[in-house]
Amino acid sequence: MSGKTRRIVLKSLPKGLPTPDNFEIVEADIPVLRDGEFLVRNAYIGLAPSSRIRMSELGSGKSYAEPTPIGGVIYGQTLGTVVETRHPGYAVGDTVVLTAGGWQEVTISDGSLTTRVDLSVAPPTHWLGALGVSGLSAYVGLIDVGHIQPTDCVAVSAASGAVGAMVGQIAKAMGCRVVGIAGGAEKCAYIKDELGFDEAVDYRAADFESALANACAGEIDLFFDNVGGAVRTAMLGQMNTFGRIVVCGMIAEYNSLSSATGPSWLPILSKRLTVRGFLMRDHMHMYDAFMRDVSNWMHAGAIKPREDIVDGLESTPEAFIGMLRGKNFGKTIVRL
Ligand SMILES: NC(=O)c1ccc[n+]([C@@H]2O[C@H](COP(=O)([O-])OP(=O)(O)OC[C@H]3O[C@@H](n4cnc5c(N)ncnc54)[C@H](OP(=O)(O)O)[C@@H]3O)[C@@H](O)[C@H]2O)c1
Repeated sequence: MSGKTRRIVLKSLPKGLPTPDNFEIVEADIPVLRDGEFLVRNAYIGLAPSSRIRMSELGSGKSYAEPTPIGGVIYGQTLGTVVETRHPGYAVGDTVVLTAGGWQEVTISDGSLTTRVDLSVAPPTHWLGALGVSGLSAYVGLIDVGHIQPTDCVAVSAASGAVGAMVGQIAKAMGCRVVGIAGGAEKCAYIKDELGFDEAVDYRAADFESALANACAGEIDLFFDNVGGAVRTAMLGQMNTFGRIVVCGMIAEYNSLSSATGPSWLPILSKRLTVRGFLMRDHMHMYDAFMRDVSNWMHAGAIKPREDIVDGLESTPEAFIGMLRGKNFGKTIVRL
């Protein structure tokens, strides 16, 4: 297939919160396929905070994520349709999710980091959220890393977001008591009233620390942290003895210009806590169990996926910046 395609590249490194000026839409020729490759026309881009980690010096050897070079396509997942193929395993018309599809209209893949999806199981956007990276991160973080038990009292930060909402709903489906921490009254009402969390605490409210203490009562067995920063520090005081902390992310620190000083480790020592970070990609052996369990919970109504969808490639930077500021409600997705 010949012709032109549009993509979004990194124009300059953000200083703090990214601005639209850090991004540029460029036009490029659609490359010619080689043997073993196929061309995907992307229909959706799933936005993720990890793209921000790649736009900083954090990406240069200090983190797990390869940095995006100036002029490079911004990292992101896509869902699309195979429109041309020279790969024996992929046919024209297949629907696929590309883990590293990028913020672009078309992507060439060799089949690595590619998942074929069945749209009769769930609509396309769910494959980027509840049945995609977000849901899988929640599932493996709770089960493979956090060793969740039905008797656990579980707390989760960024609780109305793509990963956090899945964490709380999976924990509820497994019988746990769940405390969610989110920004603002609307998000707190949503996780409690619509998703069925037991408690919701607004970290932006003036009484955050006392409300957190009331909701947690120092009895949190498993804290799934997406946020880091002040929320993590406050949560350390709410852990049960021998509690576990699963470190999924630290979005409060991604835009920081200076190194975080971090909390005192005294509560970790005093309560004999286990703290363990994880990357979803190390837990792919859980994929079949994840698909089975989350599909079942979704069909039973125990998991209600929520997506925040915007239209047009040109909307991507604003939607991404909005997500980093908490303007999203559920998984942030761009429809191309
Ligand atoms: N380890 C892994 O393999 C893995 C995989 C996927 C994602 N992650 C991590 O999981 C976390 C959540 O990602 P997501 O895709 O689900 O994003 P998300 O929760 O849908 O969106 C980000 C949310 O973070 C919250 N937030 C932003 N700044 C904050 C701050 N300073 N303090 C507290 N909360 C803040 C906002 O919610 P509020 O309005 O509530 O503030 C915002 O809606 C990220 O840290 C991400 O890097 C890790």
